[in-house]
Amino acid sequence: MLIAIENLLTADELREFRALLDAARWEDGLKTAGALAREVKRNLQLADGEEPAPALGKRILRRLEHNPLFVSAALPLRIHPPRFNRYADGGNYGAHVDSALMPIAGTGVTLRSDLSATLFLSEPDEYEGGELQIEGPFGVQAVKLPAGDMVLYPSSSLHRVTPVTRGARVASIMWIESMVPDDGERTLLFDLDQSIQALGATLPADDPKLLRLSGVYHNLLRRWART
Ligand code: NI
Repeated sequence: MLIAIENLLTADELREFRALLDAARWEDGLKTAGALAREVKRNLQLADGEEPAPALGKRILRRLEHNPLFVSAALPLRIHPPRFNRYADGGNYGAHVDSALMPIAGTGVTLRSDLSATLFLSEPDEYEGGELQIEGPFGVQAVKLPAGDMVLYPSSSLHRVTPVTRGARVASIMWIESMVPDDGERTLLFDLDQSIQALGATLPADDPKLLRLSGVYHNLLRRWART
């Protein structure tokens, strides 16, 4: 399942983020690349734990916690602190699958990546190339969203960022461990939840059909969720 979450950040927040990121110290993305990724990763990123990354990351996480579409789609258990990357001058990231297990620095906690997310911080017309291409059961989907929008996709998918041949592409990326690890089960719950919410807007809250559907949602969640 691939889901776009629009307007996670406002225009004012974006301006503030971009000013801080443009002035930040960027380092080679190879620092956090695994053995295979070293061959295909060509970008810059901010050092984990060094400002402004932690402060901006916390603001993104706060936004996600309060975003009903994100919560419904991801059913998050924990989220890796957001990273920030920058692609320019032909920078790209060849086809790869994200690491399954990610230690969260300084916490002793290791997160299983079920979902990956890219929050676009540059407008599409600021750069050429830089598409996020995600391989799925129906072929390759190319994603290039307006600044402030986020795409959520299964961490198990093969994906790449095509070379940026003009301008710069700045984005934030993060990984989510879901309470429902299986993408198929999580997708069913998402579809059901979205339908219940849509019906809830037109039916009274005590409508027996709505109550029964809501019961099905929670009882499936009870079966599939791990906390
Ligand atoms: Ni990746």
